[in-house]
Amino acid sequence: MKARSVKGTLAVLHASQLVTLAGPKRPRVGAELCDLAIISDGGMLVRDGAIVATGPSDVIERQMPGDVKVVDATGRVVLPGFVDAHAHPVFAGNRVDEFEMRARGATYEEIAAEGGGIRSTVRKTREATEDQLLAQALKHTEWFLRCGTTTVEAKSGYGLSVDEEVKILRVIRRLNEETAVEFVPTFLGAHAIPEEFQSAPARYVSLVIDEMLPQIADERLAEFCDIFCEHGYFDLATSRKILRAASDRGMEIRMHADQLTNGGGAALAAELGAVTADHLEQTEAPGIAAMKSAGVQPVLLPGSVYALGKDRYPRAREMIEAGLAVVLATDFNPGSSPTPSMQMVLSLAATQMKMTPAEGISAATINAAYSLKRGDKIGSLEAGKLANFALHDCTDCRELAYYFGVPQTHSVFVRGERINR
Ligand code: NIG
Ligand code: FE
Repeated sequence: MKARSVKGTLAVLHASQLVTLAGPKRPRVGAELCDLAIISDGGMLVRDGAIVATGPSDVIERQMPGDVKVVDATGRVVLPGFVDAHAHPVFAGNRVDEFEMRARGATYEEIAAEGGGIRSTVRKTREATEDQLLAQALKHTEWFLRCGTTTVEAKSGYGLSVDEEVKILRVIRRLNEETAVEFVPTFLGAHAIPEEFQSAPARYVSLVIDEMLPQIADERLAEFCDIFCEHGYFDLATSRKILRAASDRGMEIRMHADQLTNGGGAALAAELGAVTADHLEQTEAPGIAAMKSAGVQPVLLPGSVYALGKDRYPRAREMIEAGLAVVLATDFNPGSSPTPSMQMVLSLAATQMKMTPAEGISAATINAAYSLKRGDKIGSLEAGKLANFALHDCTDCRELAYYFGVPQTHSVFVRGERINR
């Protein structure tokens, strides 16, 4: 069900909190992250799928035309749709066997060294047809919507050959055509060295640069290029080479950096002018300073630390104090972070990284929107932006981070159209 911009006028009235996030037209930093510009007993007027006005309900009521459709939000919080700026939603099968192995004491790294991990999802994804992948991704899309997420960054990276990477990116394109969620495509051909190139990794790097990137750029299948910059995957020099080639082809850069080891990934992101550096569990003060000077947005993924049973979360407080425009995302994927829930991420951000619920909400909406180059269209409830929003079953938005394990999303609207019934 692709969301068409619904013709006509819609009014949302009597939200116990209309969390607008109205503010400067740029990502939020420092104390700004705490300012959600909440309107109590709030209302919002939507015309033809776009927001026309927000304000106290009585003011909005006075602006309503006769043929308005009213959404009564009494007793509920209204929030912009979550913007999930780091996800791997297209893959086949799952890795529940590895999950059990980890529960029995094996580590993510040990499982990967034995041919499991990313490579096991690559095997299953290659075996799946485009239609089978789409069918599974539609199920994941349903989960995102159920969690109040209306925009999702979507990485390839489980194909690792020209045809298989293109297959995943085409599935992402079809998701955009067939669902209400907006998926932002990212090419992640440099996610792992595939088995058939294990003894000749340099040849795989050439394949990424000389064959994958040109085709993907020509067919405009991806806006961003990402890489798993990590010991045993792609080292700094190789990452620099691949990302420069992507940049030369007009793609913006995101990076998996300093997840398992501190290999200088954050500094490389700064050197290359990446839009984001993601994970950053091992990043220390020099990496944080480098990101600050280059304006790189950190994308923090506490779901992956939690699900891998690790205890080193990224240093969110230091990043906020340094003035970085932090983003929170799920990292939804079958290995390290099998959750589509931004609400769970808000909980982890508060309990494990000492981010307040308000900071978390800014990081999961407006800042995430800017990291996807969509800060002018989504991420806040302000006149002129798309009417992408969700009603949640709570009266104080801090409850979204406080309760966990219970879904609070009541209803989701994309371009003014209610998506879930
Ligand atoms: O972001 N770190 C690399 N990529 C993913 C994990 C992918 C997988 O395990 O399938 C991540 O954690
Ligand atoms: Fe990831």
